[in-house]
Parts: sequence; structure tokens; C-alpha cells
Amino acid sequence: MLDVVERGLAADWSVEEISKDKSWIFPLTPSEALALIEGVRQGRVEGRDLLEYSPEDFDLGPGLKLISRAFLEAQNGRGIALVRGLPRDGVSEEEFALMTWAIGLAIGVARPQGRASQYLSEVRNAGGVYRSPTGRGYSSNAELDFHVDGGDLVALTCYNVARAGGASRVASSVRAYEVMRAERPDLLEALFEPFVFNLQGEEQEGEAPTMSRPIYAVKDGKPFCNWNRNRIEAAQTREDVPRLTSRQIEAVDLLDDVIRRPDVMFEMKLEPGDMQILNNHTALHSRTLFEDYDEPERKRLLYRLWLNPRDNEALPESLLSFFPSAEGNIVRGGTNGHHYDALRQSFEARLAKYHGLRPPLDPADRLNGRV
Ligand SMILES: [Fe+2]
Repeated sequence: MLDVVERGLAADWSVEEISKDKSWIFPLTPSEALALIEGVRQGRVEGRDLLEYSPEDFDLGPGLKLISRAFLEAQNGRGIALVRGLPRDGVSEEEFALMTWAIGLAIGVARPQGRASQYLSEVRNAGGVYRSPTGRGYSSNAELDFHVDGGDLVALTCYNVARAGGASRVASSVRAYEVMRAERPDLLEALFEPFVFNLQGEEQEGEAPTMSRPIYAVKDGKPFCNWNRNRIEAAQTREDVPRLTSRQIEAVDLLDDVIRRPDVMFEMKLEPGDMQILNNHTALHSRTLFEDYDEPERKRLLYRLWLNPRDNEALPESLLSFFPSAEGNIVRGGTNGHHYDALRQSFEARLAKYHGLRPPLDPADRLNGRV
């Protein structure tokens, strides 16, 4: 593995900067792509559950070094990276999904992503309603609010693009922080107060349906962001949740305005064979409305991983309701969902050991309110 560098100033980027300097884009050579898919095909075992694979099952070849650098760019550099040229032609959906999974195994510990406690999500329009108390963007075709996902890193691999729309939008939450600090420090301060987020029905039995946490928090001078308007608005429909104050509404409206300014909001079109990697602490993302092709095999399809990388950084204490520990070098994040069973827990413990991370805390600790 490459040396780890501390997150520095690079996460505070503008559209102009990342348009000029493309060193956050990592193109695989055709021979690296070929070795990658060959390694996946050789490691594949018919009928094996994803959670039963190990990193040693796949020899991903020389391209893995480049992919690892892309993940480090997302983790400790700009917070955004793009790998181009993953094998796609002649690759089935199942092989592409397994390749995404195999890359994740090599990089870190995958995190569960929803009610089904799935560790690899298909991002496609399955008719989900985003604006509902249980809505999730990844199963709809809706335009999404800017938000963060539930783990340290999110990686999206693109299998099919939409007939129209579906552009990916990314903004540096560190840049948005700096803009707000310069323009309206009083409103930035309001974002350090706790807000109530809805859990969209994904809470475990015995767990509260909402969670309180700030939108921004700072640790060692570094801002961390947790913005998700859809979940705050869903929480506002609950009778037992206090209404937002006018100052809080002004603050979140300014944040959304800043994120969408032309020098902050970067729009990119993912192509088949692309893998976008984002650091959820420093980058916000959204997607435009899309329209699918009629043929089922051509419909927009991406695979999503939430990944916990090695040497993840320590977190601000005020995020402890969202992450069960503020310490670094630990498995954290994700949504345990409704099927967080022994198979899943043993997968996490095995991968944590492989990557030298402390395993996740017992989920019961969270339910007991201890953490
Ligand atoms: Fe997302």
C-alpha cells in the first residue's frame, strides 16, 4: 500500500481548480483493465455469497496500484477521484458487480447500506419515491438534494448510463464552509447546532427513528459535513420533532445556495467503466433527474459501495450519534438495517482484521445509548 498522507488543504477545491488540474482522474490502461477482469473471473466461485469472499481470492493485477491511489486521493486529498477505463465491453452485470466488490475488498471494509443490510447496492430506478419518509435516492430516478452517504467513502461504478439526464454533481463541503465563513459566519455557526435527521425507516428494532447531529463539525481545524436536506425535511413531518427555527432555515438555505454556485458545483457525466470515489466528510453529491432507455438491459445501472478505508481519520465528538466512535482507524458508518446477522458481523470482523482496523463496536452499544 502507498504511504498515507493526512487530509490537507486540497479538499477545499473550486470548479476552476479541478477543471484545470485533472490529477484526480486515474485512467487505467487497456492491459490493466484486462488483467483486472481476468482476476475477477478467476476468483469467481459459482453461487458464493459476496460476504464469503476474501481479498486474497482476487489477483487484480497492476491496475490495483492506480485504483489505490485514487482512493487515497478521495480519502486524504481532494475528496473526489475518478478511475476511468474499468473493463465494461463483454462484461456481464454480475461480473461488473463482482469486480466492484473485489476492488472494495482490496481497499477497505464495506459498510451496510439500507433496510436489507446490503453491502453492494444497485443504483437504478426501481420506482422508489425519494420524497417520502422511507425514500432513498438510489432506487429512484429523481433529482436528488445535495447530501452525504453513510460511510467514510462512497464508490460508484458505472455499468449503463441513462438515455437522458442522470448527471453527477459534486461540491466541496470544505469550500462551502469557507464561503459561508466569509459571508455569513453567524449562519455557519447555526449549522454547528444539532439538527434532527430522519432514518427513513432503516432503524433497527429498538432504535429511535430519528437522529440528532450537527451539519458541520470541526476537528483539529478540519471541517466535516453531514448535510442531507431530504432527511431533515422528513423529520420535520413528525409531530415529536421540534420545528426548525427561522435562523436554522436561513442557514440551510444559504448552504444549499452556496453549494449550487457555478464555482462550487461541479457537474460530471459518468461513462460506462468509470468509478467515482467521494469522501463523504468533505464532498457533497447529488444527481439530476434521468430518463431510462426502454430496453431493460440498457437501463441506467451503477453499483455502489460504502467503504471504510484503512487509517481513517478521527472524527469530531459531536458526530457521535452518527458514528459510534470518534477515534480513527476503526470500522464505522453505514446503516445496519434489518438483517444485520452473524454472516454480516463475521464478514466485518474478518475484513477489519485484514485491513488492520478495529472492528465495529457492538451494535447493542448504540441501542443502549452508550455511544
Ligand atoms: Fe448518495
